[in-house]
Amino acid sequence: MTEPIIELQHVSKRYGDTVVLKDINIELERGKFYTLLGPSGSGKTTILRAIAGFLDVSEGTIMFDGKKINDVPANMRKVNTVFQDYALFPHMNVFDNVAYGLQIQKLKKAEVQTRVEAALKMVRLAGYADREISELSGGQQQRVAIARAIVLEPAVLLLDEPLSALDAKLRKDMQYELRELQERLGITFLFVTHDQEEALALSDEIFVMNDGEVQQSGTPVDIYDEPINHFVADFIGESNIVAGHMLKDFLVEFNGQAFECADAGMRPNEPVEVVLRPEDLDITTIGNGKVSVKVDTQLFRGDYYEIVAYDSAQNEWLIHSTNPAKDGDTVGLTFDAEDIHVMRLNESEEDFDARLESYEDD
Ligand SMILES: Nc1ncnc2c1ncn2[C@@H]1O[C@H](COP(=O)(O)OP(=O)(O)OP(=O)(O)O)[C@@H](O)[C@H]1O
Ligand SMILES: [Mg+2]
Repeated sequence: MTEPIIELQHVSKRYGDTVVLKDINIELERGKFYTLLGPSGSGKTTILRAIAGFLDVSEGTIMFDGKKINDVPANMRKVNTVFQDYALFPHMNVFDNVAYGLQIQKLKKAEVQTRVEAALKMVRLAGYADREISELSGGQQQRVAIARAIVLEPAVLLLDEPLSALDAKLRKDMQYELRELQERLGITFLFVTHDQEEALALSDEIFVMNDGEVQQSGTPVDIYDEPINHFVADFIGESNIVAGHMLKDFLVEFNGQAFECADAGMRPNEPVEVVLRPEDLDITTIGNGKVSVKVDTQLFRGDYYEIVAYDSAQNEWLIHSTNPAKDGDTVGLTFDAEDIHVMRLNESEEDFDARLESYEDD
């Protein structure tokens, strides 16, 4: 592995008695797309501000390219931020907005011109240099904000929920553009969102945050398929989470029955939580199902039916089915052993990774 461009080691942040970041350990490699994903107040912006140099951390070390930068002022860090509200200068045109940071550096006029044009081209706004900010759409303003940051040639670009103000269609277009831009620039992006679909679609690696802590880090597929705990399973995608017991390796009990599964490394009879994704459940006749449920409601979602049903213990089951069901009908649910994902209660990420490795090697 190459040396990380940014590293946070045991970083904490307190305001008085309030702890907003707890022992954050993050490594960002060069040229990758990272996402901080978490609900409001989980500490995402605080991490960006710590990296950018807009706040002092209470504990821990922030490294840039192998050197400690805790005491390096914000304007000396090779990091730029695109803020949630863009923070463009409304009274300046597009060119002047993008040129601003270069002019402060007192670069020659010709160089400013060349670099601003290149940055505008990069975000597909060539030809917009003379436009006023008020004459731009939300998506275009967002691209000006990105151009203003990349024109300074940062090694790392921090993006704080840059798409949250856009409508659904434009947001999707901008997701593609951002990913493409990151690949074209070849720099590290640290992107903040509370939208799990956006995080899954864009990222090489996701840090799932809650309550000032990184709950889990990994590729989108890792985090979706192997959530470490209830919070992550619930926050990333939709889940059915059922209480159960691990009888022995590869055999779990829930809903009063034993099921073969792909998980191991727990104590015999250890209490666990079992995750079944709605899209992994199929509907069949009662006799052929592993769990019997009564259909309560169903919504047509275009490419599937979203069905809510209840088992005899009144647990709710969410099912995504290509076939419709009938309200009030009792049906059977089937699923494959590999679609059962078992989670320990309160397992640390370190122990979780070690346990997975112990039986996933071959
Ligand atoms: N100056 C401050 N003094 C006290 N508490 C603060 C201060 N700044 C932030 N906080 C608290 O720190 C916590 C994390 O805030 P942060 O802005 O990092 O959250 P976030 O994940 O970016 O949320 P959002 O999605 O709403 O932007 C919040 O509970 C917030 O109230
Ligand atoms: Mg924030």
